Amino acid sequence: MHVLVVGGAGYIGSHMVKLLGQRGFQVTVLDNLCAGHRDAVQGARFVLGDLGERDLLNALFQAEHFDGVMHFASHIQVGESVREPAKYYLNNVFKTQYLLDAMVAHRVKCFIFSSTAAIFGEPLRVPIDEDHPKQPINPYGRGKWMVEQMLQDYDLAYGLKAVCLRYFNAAGADPEGKLGERHDPETHLIPLVLRAATSQRPITVFGTDYDTPDGTCIRDYIHVNDLGEAHLLALQRLWDGVGSAAYNLGNGNGFSVREVIDTARKVTGCEIPVVYGERRPGDPARLVADAHRARADLGWTPRYADLATIIAHAWQWETRAKS
Ligand code: UFG
Repeated sequence: MHVLVVGGAGYIGSHMVKLLGQRGFQVTVLDNLCAGHRDAVQGARFVLGDLGERDLLNALFQAEHFDGVMHFASHIQVGESVREPAKYYLNNVFKTQYLLDAMVAHRVKCFIFSSTAAIFGEPLRVPIDEDHPKQPINPYGRGKWMVEQMLQDYDLAYGLKAVCLRYFNAAGADPEGKLGERHDPETHLIPLVLRAATSQRPITVFGTDYDTPDGTCIRDYIHVNDLGEAHLLALQRLWDGVGSAAYNLGNGNGFSVREVIDTARKVTGCEIPVVYGERRPGDPARLVADAHRARADLGWTPRYADLATIIAHAWQWETRAKS
């Protein structure tokens, strides 16, 4: 089976490409390298290009038969999406529609979409199940929810089948140490905590007055390879003809920022200097997934559910020999 991975040079996409390759799939990556890294694409054909290049898209679908498409190519910074909504709607919504239109035109029916917990906005109840109201509070979350709705319409009208996977906090790295998180700028907690361990420059904890047991925000960290496994199962589900669906993907365990830092101290054996700062705008106090549906429907069982393992794999990547 041949899978097109859009955004396959990025953090989650590159781990996905490696997994697909290990499982014997033929893989083509399309990536504009605005955030990805060419050397992160292992064992796949690489096409440099942007979803906005409709001629290139059509040529690609003309030349190759794809059995499924996975779409990881989006901008991911919530704060930036508030300052630059045009950038987010153009890339994450409009260009995604170009991709869907190319799929419809070339009769490719199976699509896996990288969605996010941000579609739920400030949670009304935790853990968050799939039916929780969708009230995104920033352009990043709104764009992702728009695409989810677009997919429902494309299914009805054109028979395009999609599984939307709503990631909670993607974290960790390739257990073999070959791939990891390389965002620029890095805004995510775990890599920043690990950089504080190596540099001894303090990590800023954003807010200590949340309504949580230790006053810091609680998140559900899910290993990037466990996300990848869920994508494989979701694609297989589409190939089995079960139909479109949406799943929340997390471990169902919440960890506070302080707990993440404490665990990182144990894993690394390093002092991690901390300073306490203001809340970061737009951060909900608590985001934890109810992922029972993914477990039941897909047979998905996260393998690296333990926070220390997630951090250990990220640490292996952060401390790799860099040439
Ligand atoms: N945090 C700090 N200091 C930092 C960085 C983060 O205290 O230097 C805190 C944040 O305030 C938050 C927690 O650590 O409470 C996790 O923050 P991340 O930036 O790692 O992750 P988010 O929960 O903000 O974002 C994640 C994804 C987004 C997605 C969002 C969905 O990375 O892409 O979940 O809600 F939109």
